[in-house]
Amino acid sequence: MSNYKIQSSKFDIWTLDFDIRKMLILGIETSCDETAAALVAGGREILSSVVATQLDLHSRYGGVVPEIAARRHAELIGYVIDQAIVSAGRTLGDVEAVAVTARQGLVGCLLVGAAAAKTLSYARRIPLVGIHHIEGHVFANLLSNPTLPVPHVCLTVSGGHTMLLLVEAPCRYRVLGVTLDDAAGEAFDKVAKFLGLGFPGGPAIEKAAREGNGRAFRFPRPLLRAGNLDFSFSGLKTAVINAVRPLMTGGKPLPVADIAASFQEAAVEVLVSKTLRVALETGVKAVSVTGGVSANRRLRQAFTQACQNKGLEAFFPDLSLCTDNGAMVAAAGYARLNRGEVAGLDLDVVPSALMEL
Ligand code: KG4
Ligand code: ZN
Repeated sequence: MSNYKIQSSKFDIWTLDFDIRKMLILGIETSCDETAAALVAGGREILSSVVATQLDLHSRYGGVVPEIAARRHAELIGYVIDQAIVSAGRTLGDVEAVAVTARQGLVGCLLVGAAAAKTLSYARRIPLVGIHHIEGHVFANLLSNPTLPVPHVCLTVSGGHTMLLLVEAPCRYRVLGVTLDDAAGEAFDKVAKFLGLGFPGGPAIEKAAREGNGRAFRFPRPLLRAGNLDFSFSGLKTAVINAVRPLMTGGKPLPVADIAASFQEAAVEVLVSKTLRVALETGVKAVSVTGGVSANRRLRQAFTQACQNKGLEAFFPDLSLCTDNGAMVAAAGYARLNRGEVAGLDLDVVPSALMEL
């Protein structure tokens, strides 16, 4: 490595020999607890998407353990990339660029994906592009809904993020609101853990809530009436715990389904009403919801209904693209490469990064 020199903007993508409209991009995602890779053609067509989840590893701790997650990524990343290429019926030689989640996530986890992406970029002399994880989620929706218009308001709700964005144009965002404490998915996970429903909590709460009455408990709707567009889910989680704890000493079985349904209603109401408020204020015609929590059927139903009432269109990703995956990273990478953005081998990972505006 002695004479190896790190260099920024190593490639001029316009001088490379490929047609960007059909460009085959490998997307790599390792920001949290999914080791994922996908091959996407022309930024739209998913040829393969491989996601190795680590749920089994973390469920016994009731949440993601960063060090364990990073080690598992290191074990799996080569295999997952290989599977993504093979299952698309391609070879490594066919890959024309590599996009990787480099911003927002667990630092040890991001480093594994970035190291793999840089290695491929260097070895194959193909362009590298670093993606913000939330931009990946925005593109999950574009992948599933090619007619999704810009501008639109996009709510990203996942285990690590709750962010309200105005998508002004492809790759141009204005942050409208964020969570001030826990992310929405984190609140689902913590309430589920408290109720003994297991990890990840979102699907478990949704399942339990189906048998419950969402009006049985009146949990608070944090910051609903506040003039800003920020969220707070830690207060909601604490309110649930405070309301439920006294019931645990009575000797009667806990009304788990009612608690789950009432919590879900509170979370959904806050998410829907803040998003709709800003969509109407900004005058956009469409709203998109993305990230792991966007798989929640009650959330989808409430958004669809509220949007219909206000003459707006609601968009959600396919269920397979709600949680973390490599396809959304490849799609975002395509858009960034199309703008001539290429990273050098000095691409840094940033655990907590603002969305670029
Ligand atoms: O997007 P994602 O895979 O990872 C992050 O970027 O954080 O989201 C994972 C989160 C978890 O908190 C999980 O409980 C939540 O998404 N989730 C759900 C559902 N499916 C996954 N939350 C509510 N309802 C669901 N059906
Ligand atoms: Zn995510």
